[in-house]
Amino acid sequence: MDFPGHLDSIPGLLGIRLAGTVVHGDKRGRKLGFPTANIASPPGTELPPDGVYSCLVSIAGRPALFGATASIGNNPTFDDVFERRVEIYIHDFDDQLYGQEIAICLLSQLREMRRFSGLEDLIGQTAADVERSRTLLRDLGLICMAVALSPAARLAAGE
Ligand SMILES: Cc1cc2nc3c(=O)[nH]c(=O)nc-3n(C[C@H](O)[C@H](O)[C@H](O)COP(=O)(O)O)c2cc1C
Repeated sequence: MDFPGHLDSIPGLLGIRLAGTVVHGDKRGRKLGFPTANIASPPGTELPPDGVYSCLVSIAGRPALFGATASIGNNPTFDDVFERRVEIYIHDFDDQLYGQEIAICLLSQLREMRRFSGLEDLIGQTAADVERSRTLLRDLGLICMAVALSPAARLAAGE
């Protein structure tokens, strides 16, 4: 499944696309307050550097895009994750996605992956990441709307 649109051509945005099937993780996310969809990308997929990213998500069969915050890495706060994982916390979303195909587009890196000394610190930082990601996506939406409504865009559209 391909991520729709041309977000990779907008200056200042990463526009890194990843896709795959949603698989089971360790089921810790819901207890932490941030349930994540773990994406199994096809073998050989080159993953971007570890870190926390703001992104958009497209879910097969659903017309709308969703805002999300992604975590890429081996969750170093826990000692039992040995492979690099792509996990996304989808904003304002509460549905089961196991087995479904999803595609994401990473827009901006918020920070690097870190090892926290306790769960409280991980939860606090994750909440701050999600807030920042929401603000970034909201501002991006406003910018896109302003560009679409600009006199130049209206002229180009023949209005
Ligand atoms: C926005 C966000 C930021 C995260 N940052 C970190 C991090 O810095 N260090 C870390 O060990 N795990 C981080 N994680 C991953 C969590 O540890 C992981 O989502 C949680 O353990 C649930 O994993 P599970 O789905 O396998 O149960 C982050 C997750 C999210 C959604």
